[in-house]
This record gives sequence, C-alpha cells and structure tokens, in this order.
Amino acid sequence: MKVFVDATKCSGYGACAELAPNLFELDEWGYAAVIGDGVPSDEAAARRAAAACPELAITIEE
Ligand code: F3S
Repeated sequence: MKVFVDATKCSGYGACAELAPNLFELDEWGYAAVIGDGVPSDEAAARRAAAACPELAITIEE
C-alpha cells in the first residue's frame, strides 16, 4: 500500500495528520504531505485518514 496527497486538492483541514500522525505532516500553512515513502505502518489509520479528508485529497494505491 502507498499513500499520496494531491496538493492541488488539500485545503488544510488537518484530519489526516490527526488520524495518522506517523504518515502525514502539515506544513506551516497546514497543508499536508506524506512522510517518507508513503508506505504506511498502520494501514487502517491510513484508510481512516483518507476517508476523513473532506477534499478527497488522499489516494491509496493498493
Ligand atoms: Fe489536506 Fe485533507 Fe489532510 S484537506 S490537511 S489532506 S485532511
């Protein structure tokens, strides 16, 4: 599994970093980026984060 954030869709809601802090980091404006190579250690948390993003900015490649 690999996780991606579409920076053109992210509006800085921050739910991703709250639900999967090991996988997402927020920049100084609150926009998200994937930490490291985007391969989650906790796949369930990654799915919860993707589902929680109001902008559907997070995609998961199986
Ligand atoms: Fe952005 Fe969605 Fe996270 S809008 S900050 S990717 S919850």
